[in-house]
Amino acid sequence: EKGGHDYFMLKEIEEQPEALSNTLRGHFADGGVVLDEQRISEQDLRDINKVFVVACGTAYHSGLLAKYAIEHWCRIPVEVELASEFRYRDPVLGRDTLVVAISQSGETADTLEAVRHARTQHARVLAISNTNGSQIPRESDAVLYTHAGPEIGVAATKTFLAQIAANYLVGLALAQARGTKYTDELEHEFAELAAMPDAVRSVLETVPQVRELATRMCDAKAVLFLGRHVGYPVALEGALKLKELAYMHAEGFAAGELKHGPIALIEDGLPVVVQMPSLKGHSQLHAKLLSNIREIQARGARTIVIAEEGDEAVRPFADELIEIPAVPTLLQPLVSTVPLQVLAAEIARHRGYDVDKPRNLAKSVTVE
Ligand code: M6R
Repeated sequence: EKGGHDYFMLKEIEEQPEALSNTLRGHFADGGVVLDEQRISEQDLRDINKVFVVACGTAYHSGLLAKYAIEHWCRIPVEVELASEFRYRDPVLGRDTLVVAISQSGETADTLEAVRHARTQHARVLAISNTNGSQIPRESDAVLYTHAGPEIGVAATKTFLAQIAANYLVGLALAQARGTKYTDELEHEFAELAAMPDAVRSVLETVPQVRELATRMCDAKAVLFLGRHVGYPVALEGALKLKELAYMHAEGFAAGELKHGPIALIEDGLPVVVQMPSLKGHSQLHAKLLSNIREIQARGARTIVIAEEGDEAVRPFADELIEIPAVPTLLQPLVSTVPLQVLAAEIARHRGYDVDKPRNLAKSVTVE
């Protein structure tokens, strides 16, 4: 049942191309996004002038990515908030506010309570969930289901990639309702998304390399993850995976923050995983990351670099180089997260832990 793998999580990592294509299938037709359920009028959708994304854990990291896409495509301000914090700070909500609640299980208590609070304030709620008929979709005005299939491993993997795709579909739906993108542009964005299952398939070829790297990282005291722009949520996700599975101290930082404190943590031999921005899409950020790597390497860090194929400039600064295919900037997390999932799972396995059932954690957290 584990499809020849030692544990479910690895099987689920390898199922990511299918999880993505199943999530995209049927959600885009006649030049527009099709939600699974819509109890809100097109006019109301058009009138949305503020978006809040609420979620927990890995779903929250996918939400951080939603902000880049929605603000860029729709020109609506987006705030992303941990569901457990949202309702305790009296957020400004109203009929023209859309709250996007992301939850794999659809049963997470913090997210459900955030949804209930939003509804008492008359906000519209759109749920993204992997579980048909679960509570959060039932209490929402609109629903888009990810079709990643059941996820057995407690650590979210294929549902994370599916959530990113779903978030981008919601971004396109809003752009369409508001008229900030023409049909041909929507079709172009969707076609780029539709090419991602193949890109993920090709990044899976790095699995043997990452498994080998993991054997040399199991004894690290801590691991840091750095990224910028869409690479920042990926860094947070890489660190979360390592904490929850390998019980190691791990932290993700926005690389621009290094000089504002975290660089003091760098010491001889400390592994630092760096996400390089896309060369074409973000050449300015690329140059900044290069200088960050140079700084940490000079202070003794062991640099593990995830970079686009053909990124020659980074080679001299990478103690380990993991190459990913070049894809449009917003879509890079769909490929760059994959090696981090494998890294965490394999370090955990080498440390002798149960990868599918990490200690103290439950697949669905139904208490606040
Ligand atoms: O079911 P949900 O998406 O609402 O769950 C949210 C988090 O509990 C979940 O993503 C958790 O962080 C995972 N264990 C991360 O791998």
